[in-house]
Amino acid sequence: MKLAHLFLASALTFISALMPISAEEDSPAAIQMKHIGKGFKTLSTQISDPTKKESSLKTIDAMLLAVNASKPLIPAPAGELKGDSLKTYMREYAKGLSELEASLQDLKKAVAAGDTSAAQNLLSAINKLKKTYHSDLR
Ligand code: HEM
Repeated sequence: MKLAHLFLASALTFISALMPISAEEDSPAAIQMKHIGKGFKTLSTQISDPTKKESSLKTIDAMLLAVNASKPLIPAPAGELKGDSLKTYMREYAKGLSELEASLQDLKKAVAAGDTSAAQNLLSAINKLKKTYHSDLR
């Protein structure tokens, strides 16, 4: 019985080592984007709520960390590119991330100052940024 278990365990280890990483698995860049997405959702529900100011500031900081963590990563769609098209893609990706970073810094200032209307405008500008870059890069 014990031997059968041992055999099964080593057979499973062997099979999983042979399996390629599933194409369905999130890339490291996609994982960071999901963190950004989660923060964006949180902000969308509370950006106009002055009692949530501290929470919003923390959320923005977490999004900024994810933006910075994204910078050295190569998104999954870039894996199919080579040469100049890869260079162009990565330049566009870097530009999108710095624009997102700058907008998040502005948003942080607006939230810290309690300027709700500026914060709302910045959040919708960030949503536009997302749409523009996703249509180019995803
Ligand atoms: C608030 C703004 C943004 C949000 C909420 C957001 C959210 C997301 C989400 C949820 C994904 C899908 C992850 C998955 O595959 O499940 C994604 C993918 C992606 N986003 Fe964003 N994004 C934003 C802004 C941007 C910007 C400005 C850029 C430009 C650099 C960008 C570039 C990408 C790329 C390249 C992917 C594909 C990553 C991969 O598959 O490896 N995103 N994003």
